[in-house]
Amino acid sequence: MKIGILSAGGDCPGINATIRGVGKTAIVKYGMEVIGFTEGFRGLLYKDYIPMDEKLLSGLLTKGGTVLGTSREKPFKKKDSDPFEDKPEEIKKNYKDLGLDALVCIGGNGTQRTANLLAKEGLNVIGIPKTIDNDVYGTDLTFGFDSALSIATDAIDRLHTTANSHRRVMVIEIMGHHAGWLALYAGMAGGGDVILVPEIEYDINKVTDYLQERSMQEKSFSIVVVAEGIKKEGNKPAARYIAKQIQEITGMETRETILGYIQRGGSPTATDRIFSTQLGGYATDLIHQGIFGQMVAKRDGQITHVPLEEVGGKLRLLTPDDPLIERGRSLGVCFGN
Ligand code: F6P
Repeated sequence: MKIGILSAGGDCPGINATIRGVGKTAIVKYGMEVIGFTEGFRGLLYKDYIPMDEKLLSGLLTKGGTVLGTSREKPFKKKDSDPFEDKPEEIKKNYKDLGLDALVCIGGNGTQRTANLLAKEGLNVIGIPKTIDNDVYGTDLTFGFDSALSIATDAIDRLHTTANSHRRVMVIEIMGHHAGWLALYAGMAGGGDVILVPEIEYDINKVTDYLQERSMQEKSFSIVVVAEGIKKEGNKPAARYIAKQIQEITGMETRETILGYIQRGGSPTATDRIFSTQLGGYATDLIHQGIFGQMVAKRDGQITHVPLEEVGGKLRLLTPDDPLIERGRSLGVCFGN
């Protein structure tokens, strides 16, 4: 068999470990031929690819980013600048010309949606979920999340000491446009006093009352963790918006930190390396068995697969009664409501 791999959308730690998991299993276990498309669906569209042998796959386990590159090319969305009349047709032609038996698409929600559409066009597709946001529908966990969580937690730990020295309210913004998983988990792991996530509507007065109460209890500093996607006015970053409001309402000295792309960079954690290896290897096992149109997933602690059809176009968000939110509340963490 001959298989193609691509990584699309925003990068995260663990993509290379996943590529290695798919590729090595294909070559070592099944004797398959492997090619890697460069820059996501763009490579598939423009037939830009590299043959991947075992040597090329060696040393990838610990590397951040993606050796294949990535892009936000959406094959089912026509742009004026596109040189192709019909992008899905071009992709189907390339897939056939290259003699591919299967295509592995590593990516977040948008990628899984495209993977499903390509499967509907008749391609043998397997999706592998990745994102630090952990918001891919159909899986309990995405790789990249654990790595980002450890970076964000370390940042919050570091803010504690400087917050303490200056007796300030430190507001830290964690990635997560739609979902608050990373902000919630990093906030809980880092001992945040206030955690604001997009899924829970907050009242700024509840936040400021809580901070003033803390200060009356002679708690000399506070850590406020906010997800980038919380509701706000204007186009200021979430942390700046919240810090300004806190300072205006309470007169407390505030500072903001926007962690940004640091969260997506660098080497994956041990947990993400293992998880990526498991997902990648499992994807190749499915291909060998002739099972397609599926996304590899982790459910109830097991590596399994779900139909792409069920995943495409949906998001996995926090629910306000998430057990970790409940646990936080029982410790006195403020969620702004
Ligand atoms: O990887 C997911 C994510 O980090 C989101 O939380 C964030 O909003 C988005 O990617 C930004 O990515 P980019 O700037 O690469 O489009």
